[in-house]
Amino acid sequence: MKFGHFDDQRREYVITNPRTPWPWINYLGNEDFFSLISNTAGGYSFYKDAKFRRITRYRYNNVPMDNGGRYFYINDNGTVWNPGWKPCKTELDKYECRHGMNYTIITGEKNGIEAETLFFVPLKTLAEVQKVKLTNKNKEAKKIKLFSFAEWCLWNAATDMENFQRNFSTGEVEIEGSALYHKTEFKERRNHYAYYSVNVPIQGYDTDRESFIGLYNEFSEPQAVMAGKPNMSEAHGWSPIASHYIEVELQPGESKEFVFVLGYVEFESRDDKWESKGVINKKPAKETIAKFDTAAKVDAAFMELRAYWDNLLDNYVLKSGEEKLDRMVNIWNQYQCMITFNFSRSASFFESGVGRGMGFRDSNQDLVGFVHQIPPRARERIIDIASTQFPDGGCYHQYQPLTKRGNNDIGGGFNDDPMWLIFGTVAYIKESGDFSILDDMVPFDNQPGTEKTLFHHLTVSFNHVIENLGPHMLPLIGRADWNDCLNLNCFSWDPNESFQTTENNSEGTKAESLMIAGLFVVCGRDYVELCRQIGNNEEAARAEKFVNDMIESVKKHGWDGEWYLRAYDFYGKKIGSNENKEGKIFIESQGWCTMAGIGLEEGMVQKSLDSVKKYLDCEHGIVLNNPAFTEYVVEYGEISTYPAGYKENAGIFCHNNPWVIIGETILGRGDYAWDYFRKICPSYTEEISNLHKVEPYVYAQMIAGKDAFKPGEAKNSWLTGTAAWNYYTITQFILGIKPAYNGLEVNPCIPADWKGFTVSRKFRGATYKIEVKNSGVMKGVKKLIVNGTEVAGNIIPMQPAGSVNTVEVIMG
Ligand code: GLC
Ligand code: GLC
Repeated sequence: MKFGHFDDQRREYVITNPRTPWPWINYLGNEDFFSLISNTAGGYSFYKDAKFRRITRYRYNNVPMDNGGRYFYINDNGTVWNPGWKPCKTELDKYECRHGMNYTIITGEKNGIEAETLFFVPLKTLAEVQKVKLTNKNKEAKKIKLFSFAEWCLWNAATDMENFQRNFSTGEVEIEGSALYHKTEFKERRNHYAYYSVNVPIQGYDTDRESFIGLYNEFSEPQAVMAGKPNMSEAHGWSPIASHYIEVELQPGESKEFVFVLGYVEFESRDDKWESKGVINKKPAKETIAKFDTAAKVDAAFMELRAYWDNLLDNYVLKSGEEKLDRMVNIWNQYQCMITFNFSRSASFFESGVGRGMGFRDSNQDLVGFVHQIPPRARERIIDIASTQFPDGGCYHQYQPLTKRGNNDIGGGFNDDPMWLIFGTVAYIKESGDFSILDDMVPFDNQPGTEKTLFHHLTVSFNHVIENLGPHMLPLIGRADWNDCLNLNCFSWDPNESFQTTENNSEGTKAESLMIAGLFVVCGRDYVELCRQIGNNEEAARAEKFVNDMIESVKKHGWDGEWYLRAYDFYGKKIGSNENKEGKIFIESQGWCTMAGIGLEEGMVQKSLDSVKKYLDCEHGIVLNNPAFTEYVVEYGEISTYPAGYKENAGIFCHNNPWVIIGETILGRGDYAWDYFRKICPSYTEEISNLHKVEPYVYAQMIAGKDAFKPGEAKNSWLTGTAAWNYYTITQFILGIKPAYNGLEVNPCIPADWKGFTVSRKFRGATYKIEVKNSGVMKGVKKLIVNGTEVAGNIIPMQPAGSVNTVEVIMG
């Protein structure tokens, strides 16, 4: 069952039934000011950091779900309704929500009044702009009352939800004309405020929540709206809000547009904060308000945003003949990659924005799906991430986007982390050709005076693995590897402890990870190649030896007969082995060791992937492990806490399915690769939206696996490494167009019955119009013709910036 449809022409998903199985959301803003918005206009806004600069309040896991947001209420002679259906849930005559690239348009119609509401954050603007267009489709004139509503958060989203003895006394507002200001704590240490304005004179307002809603009322029946009369309340403490009241008269057929601006102002200097004693300096707010004080100005800014996305998405355009694939590759997957790049794992409807900042490993992986869009932003990110590294190559697992400092609450010790810095940096250099980043001076743990080149950071990353090897000469796992829940040095019997942060008993441990081993071989080879590129052959030779040693260790100690082991536990016992009762086989080591091609000649890669097919594959994707754990295993940690079939315990963790897919492309099995890809690809599961539950236009982190109560039900949409990995996999391994140091490598691996496809790819300033032709094979490039001339090998040589080149690829 579907709840809407794709509109590829406009790059939108159009929701036509507001009762989606879960709030289906979108993100507004893509640099500093951000909002989350659901299909019924729920959600919230923040500046840079969803924890420390929360602008509007949101209550998670609410009843009903997703209550609270930016709401417009219309009181049409006693009938009260919202364009987005919620919160009043008055039955609408028409409802539609169009989620597009960083904008959302929600339209509702009731009794001949149509309300179209456009929400977006204009480029380079610290505000969410909302344009409300009211149209009277009736034969007679209408007088209606429009109320806006936003509830302020007291800045720190965590303490906002707990420290009420203070919070209920701190709220302060100012009201001037049609602008309502939230200046809570401005008097003391804060140098920022927020405001909500509208571009017409208002007939009233409210700034105190209880006055507007009423202590015993709900969002669906605010007393001011129900009474058709605002209270002109001025908040002192309690819960400050902003609500405008506008009386609207519409002739038959007439439309009127109103522009609301919900903005944020920050001062660099304390001296600029005040206009006069107790009166905030409103100049910057007024400047932004003036930029959007007519509908025409808003429309122009909206066109600019659309042009911005046209331009970004023009970097990679696929025509495959598969509509569902094209819309993912050309639109939604790239869009989700931008979102994960911006937010890492911080703010979604599954991530509260207060728990996790930017992940070290997460952000590096997110880069590979984003780097072709805006390489300079990827460059900046790499430097930010590397600055949180420790001198020994280890790193903080997370950092806060506002301060860019490592997060002490979680600390470090995740031994896969360092490798991802190599992974991200190499992807950046291959895309941009910018080797100069390696010479950038980057501190350790953000301490001034500790700066070393970024290349040095990569070297210590590489060394961190080889300096932390276990008894089988395999990498020690530390707190955990990519799988946060495989906590082999934790041994927790106390439910009040977090598996992520509790004491890591690494003293005397024998816990080793085959996932890190595979990762090390892949990224280690990248490191070797990079050293050669910059002429550091000595370092290349040193590193290569360690990579080869690792390959030998995996073959010797990491093979279980039919698949790669997953790990050794604290005591040196096998995990992910046929000898185990549960968790006999795991996906991560099959993925990474096959990607690394370890034992390819000996048949290990094929055996491993055949075992994946046999034990881990199911209707909805590839599960993480099998059999699922049904008992708590104290030596393994969090993985065995989840009920069978969910999350890291045999859920379909979509993030790691691509590793197997890449493995399949290494074997050349394009049919299998494609089959796996399609299973978890959102546009292909749109038809089962009622089961799948979350948005059909973006990937979810996890789909319940075959052992779950409800296989196929997905959770944790949007902020997941799945976005980058699937984009990377489809574009670089299945379609097979891969940035290389000296050009664009072409090496598709597709189903045998595909006749071919075309890709227009911008790469370092030049455009490549690539046509791949296939007659019945899955892999292999027989002929490569660039601008009419046949080229040996399968790398398209670099062409001058600005040039448009035609490339013909004959598979065979
Ligand atoms: C989550 C985390 C990621 C981790 C994965 C597996 O997606 O963001 O860092 O690798 O879970 O545990
Ligand atoms: C939990 C989740 C895992 C996530 C981690 C982050 O362990 O299962 O997916 O990465 O929390 O702290």
